[in-house]
Amino acid sequence: KWKMSDFIDAQCAVIRERVGDDQVICGLSGGVDSSVLAALLAKAIGRQLTCIFVDNGLLRKNERELVEQTFREHFDVDLRVADAGDQFLTDLAGVTDPQEKRTRIGHRFISVFKEQAARIQPVKPGGQVHFLAQGTLYPDVIESGQGYAGTAANIKLHHNVGGLPAELGFGLIEPLRNLFKDEVRKLGEVLGLPDVMVWRHPFPGPGLAVRVLGEVTRPQLDLLRDADEVLLEEIVANGLYRKTSQVFAVLLPVKSVGVMGDGRTHEQVIAVRAVETQDFMTADWARIPFDVLATISSRIINEVRGVNRVVYDISSKPPATIEWE
Ligand code: XMP
Repeated sequence: KWKMSDFIDAQCAVIRERVGDDQVICGLSGGVDSSVLAALLAKAIGRQLTCIFVDNGLLRKNERELVEQTFREHFDVDLRVADAGDQFLTDLAGVTDPQEKRTRIGHRFISVFKEQAARIQPVKPGGQVHFLAQGTLYPDVIESGQGYAGTAANIKLHHNVGGLPAELGFGLIEPLRNLFKDEVRKLGEVLGLPDVMVWRHPFPGPGLAVRVLGEVTRPQLDLLRDADEVLLEEIVANGLYRKTSQVFAVLLPVKSVGVMGDGRTHEQVIAVRAVETQDFMTADWARIPFDVLATISSRIINEVRGVNRVVYDISSKPPATIEWE
C-alpha cells in the first residue's frame, strides 16, 4: 500500500539532492497547494526555504494573520510578508473592468514578488538563491488551470505566462506535480498543517477585487470583508463548510431602498454565493437550508453597516461563472 510517509521521505530526498546548498523561494498564498508545498519544503530543507506572502490588501478578514500564525507556530520557516496593499489599491483606482483589474493586480504582484526575492540571502555558504517552488498539481499539468493564465495574481499561473522563474534565472521545483487535490490535502494533514488550512475553500488570486463589483476602494473592501466573515461564520457553525466547495459574499455596486424605524434607507446589496463542484469547471448552487440563509441575511443586515438587502445566487455554471467578475 502506498503510504504518504514514504512519499514525503522520497520527495524530501529528491528535493535536498537537487537543491544542494542553494536557497529556494516559495510564494505562499495561504491556499491549500502553496501551504502544503511550503510545509513539505520546510521539512526537506528548513531555513534554505524562504516564503514570500504578498498582502495585497485584497485578502479576507484575518487571512494574513492565519497564514503568519500557522507558519510561524508550526514550522521553522523564513517567512517574509510584503505589505503592499497601498500599491495594489493605487493601481486599482478608477478601474471597473474585471480583466483590467486582473491585469493590474498580476503586474503588481510580479513586481512586489521580485522586490522581495531580491532581498533574500542564501543561508548556506556558497549557496545561491536559485530555485522557485510552485504548487503545481497534476490537474494543472494536464490542462492549465481555469483559463485565467495571463491574468491571475497567482504565482502558479504567472509562471505560465509571465515567465517569472525564467526571467529570474531560477530553476523550478514542483514536488506536487503528480498529485490530485485530495492527495495534497492528505499530505498537508500528515505534515501537520491545521484543518483550517488543509480544508480551505479556494480563493482567487485577485482576491476581493473581483468580489467588489465595479471600482475597488478601501471602504468597499472593508464592508465586503465584514459581510464575508459573517457568512463564513454561519456556514462553519452550521456544519456546511466541508459540504460546500466555495462560499463567499459579493458586494454589488447598486443601492436599493429599505426601511429602518421610521426612515427609509438607501444602501447596498450583498449577494451570497455558495457552490458545489468537483472540478470548478462546472458547478451547481448549493442547497443551503432556508433557515441558515435566514440567519445569514439578518446577521449581515444587522451587523454590517451600509447593507440593507441580501440576495442568494441560484445560478449554476455554466452559463454563469462561480465568481461574479
Ligand atoms: P469561475 O468564476 O471562472 O471560477 O467559475 C472558477 C474557479 O476559479 C477561481 N477564479 C480565479 N482564480 N485567479 C485565480 O487564481 C482568477 O483570476 C480567478 N478567477 C476565478 C474561482 O474562485 C473559482 O474557484
